[in-house]
Amino acid sequence: MKSYLCEAMHHKLISSPLQGFTDFHFRNAFQQFFGGSIDHFYAPYIRFNGKMVIKPIYERDLKPKNNTKLEVIPQVMTCHVEEFIFAANYVRSLGYKELNWNLGCPYPMVTNKGMGSGLIKDPEKIDRILDRVHTETDIIVSMKMRMGYEHAGEILDVFPVLEKYPIKNIGIHARIGAQLYKGGTDLDAFQRCIDHSNQKLYFNGDITSVAIFEKLTERFPSIDHWMLGRGLIADPFLPGMIKSGTEIYPEDKLERFSKYHDTLFTAAEQKLTGEKAVIRKMLSYWEYFSAMFPNPTKVVKMIKKAKTYEVYNTAVREILELEAFADF
Ligand SMILES: Cc1cc2nc3c(=O)[nH]c(=O)nc-3n(C[C@H](O)[C@H](O)[C@H](O)COP(=O)(O)O)c2cc1C
Repeated sequence: MKSYLCEAMHHKLISSPLQGFTDFHFRNAFQQFFGGSIDHFYAPYIRFNGKMVIKPIYERDLKPKNNTKLEVIPQVMTCHVEEFIFAANYVRSLGYKELNWNLGCPYPMVTNKGMGSGLIKDPEKIDRILDRVHTETDIIVSMKMRMGYEHAGEILDVFPVLEKYPIKNIGIHARIGAQLYKGGTDLDAFQRCIDHSNQKLYFNGDITSVAIFEKLTERFPSIDHWMLGRGLIADPFLPGMIKSGTEIYPEDKLERFSKYHDTLFTAAEQKLTGEKAVIRKMLSYWEYFSAMFPNPTKVVKMIKKAKTYEVYNTAVREILELEAFADF
C-alpha cells in the first residue's frame, strides 16, 4: 500500500464533464466538501443550435464569479469551425486560456450530424478545423475523445493530425461511440493509443473504485492523468481515497455526505421550480449515489416514491441513518 500511496500522490484526478450533473453548483459543492481531491474540472459542453449565441445556462456555468475556487476548463461540441472560433473567443473573453473539444459524445442525434464521436472518422475535417482555430485564435486546445465511432482503430488515424498542432492533451474514454455506455472499456485498444501517440494522454472510463484505479495504474504506467465521471458522482469520497491510497472511508463520511447532499439540494431548489422538479433532479443524483449503499435498488425506490419534500427528507434520513452508512 505504501508504494501505491507514493505513486497515487503523483497522479492527477480530473472531473470529467457530465451534462446535467457537473455544473458550477455541483463543482462548488464538491470543492467545498471534498476539496483538493480533484485537480481540475471540465465544464459540460457548450453547444450551438444554429445560432451564434451562448445560451444563458452556459454563461452562468462559466462565469468566473461562479467558479472562483475552482480550476475549470470549458468544453465545446461542434463540427463547425465558425462555432469553435466563436466559443474560443467567448471563453477567452472570460479569461479562460483553454477550450476542450468534445469528440466523444456517442448519441446518434449528435453523431449523425458529424459531431462528437461521429467526427473521429473524418481526420481531414478535424485538421481543417484545428488549422483555422490555431491560425485565428490563441486558444489552447485539448481533446476529449472516444477511440472511434464504429471501431477503436479510427482514433489512430487522427493522431497524426493532432500532432501538427500544440494540442495540450487528449482525454480518451476507452470505448467506441457505437457502444454508448454498454460493454466494458477496451484496454487493449487504449494501449494501442499509447503506442501510436506522442501526445499527452489522459485515461477515462469506469474508474469506480480504488482497486480499479490501482489496476489501471499498474497496466498503464505512463499515464498520470485520470478522468472520473460517473464514479465521482456516485462516490464523492473516491478521488480522496484514491489520492490517499486507502479504501477506508473517512470517519466523518456521514456528516460530510449529508452536508454535500443538502448543498446540492439547495442548488436544485435555486435553479428549478416546484418540489417535483427538485426531487426529480435529486433522484438523478441518487441513481448514482445509490451505488455506495448495500441495497442500491431499495435506495432508488425510496427516493422515487417521494413526491413531496417531506417524504423526500424522511427517505434521505432513513437511507443515511438507518440503512446504509452503518455497514458501508
Ligand atoms: C449523463 C452524462 C453526461 C455527459 N456529458 C458529457 C459532456 O458534457 N461532455 C463530455 O465530454 N462527456 C460527457 N459525458 C461523458 C463523460 O464525461 C465520461 O467520458 C463517460 O461517462 C465515461 O467516464 P466514466 O466511466 O468515468 O463515467 C457524459 C456522460 C454522462 C453519463
